[in-house]
Amino acid sequence: MFNSSPPVQEIFSHLGSLNDLASSPDLQDTQWLKGLSAKTCFNECNTNELRVFLKRDDLIDPVVSGNKWRKLKYNCEKALNTSHQTILTFGGAFSNHIVATARAGKLVGLKTIGIIRGEENKPLNETLQTAQENGMELHFISRADYRQKEDPNFIQALRNQFGSFWLIPEGGANYHGFNGCLEITSEIDKEFDIIAISAGTGTTAAGIIASLSDHQRLWVFPALKNGGFIKDNIAKHLNQLYFDTEAVAHDLSKLIIFDEYHFGGYAKVPAVLVHFIQQFYKRTLIKLDPIYTSKMMLGLLDQIVFNKEAHNKSIVAVHTGGIQGAAGIEKKLNTSLYPL
Ligand SMILES: Cc1ncc(COP(=O)(O)O)c(C=O)c1O
Repeated sequence: MFNSSPPVQEIFSHLGSLNDLASSPDLQDTQWLKGLSAKTCFNECNTNELRVFLKRDDLIDPVVSGNKWRKLKYNCEKALNTSHQTILTFGGAFSNHIVATARAGKLVGLKTIGIIRGEENKPLNETLQTAQENGMELHFISRADYRQKEDPNFIQALRNQFGSFWLIPEGGANYHGFNGCLEITSEIDKEFDIIAISAGTGTTAAGIIASLSDHQRLWVFPALKNGGFIKDNIAKHLNQLYFDTEAVAHDLSKLIIFDEYHFGGYAKVPAVLVHFIQQFYKRTLIKLDPIYTSKMMLGLLDQIVFNKEAHNKSIVAVHTGGIQGAAGIEKKLNTSLYPL
């Protein structure tokens, strides 16, 4: 696992050239539901040795940010088009997806129900409090019950309890979520060889890989331990698109998974990562979230420094948002992630 200090020092020396990322982004409008407009923009760092673009999907909305917006866009549209009044979804107590669903539902006029893993702890943390403030009805269930979240009998019991709803699986990992993620690359008007993305379920990665040209590669940085399962998840999404194993295998040949940057596992934030987030912010004024995008960015910079496959390549890293979760981690660690 990546945690030794000499490489970190070398990476920090390269962060100097990333100061350029702080330059003013290039703005481009994209439309989303009901006329709401989102901004897609890039920060750019372009030196002799390094050509990195950071696609700032984190700026789409403070809460429905990054890939959350991608995954919720067609789910909300589908729910509205099929005359549903309610969305029900699942997540943990710190889930970006839960709070983003609450806010998206409020923005488009859909009631939202969040089924939350584990016991209710009062006071609610920032994530759940924001979800509730955006009108989400929260229901806490045991971890054992939560594991049944894909069981049709369990879902039927929820329908009996709550009435009709549009179901969005945990993390927005369904076909409609995948469909929204297919649009990410179409907004990139730069020549690039590599696109780098963080992964939880792999839905965002699947959307990206399906829209790459043959010479382009997708570098995936799982935020969880044993991230090899991401490849199977990506394959499942691609199967829904192609129904053709050869086409799926063709896309998968563009995938490279770097599974040594989980930093101890999901939501583990060791001191080295905290230091990196703080340094990155000081140099670029860009906030990286502690769960996903910081692990991706540190992994990517590590590869840029040490992997010759990255040399002289043009790389687009996608900032998938998630900053709303930082406050909870700052409280837990009793430290500021974004000091100046
Ligand atoms: C901020 C952020 N980035 C990346 C991811 C990973 O996305 P995916 O589950 O599509 O792999 C998530 C997932 O929840 C997220 O919240």
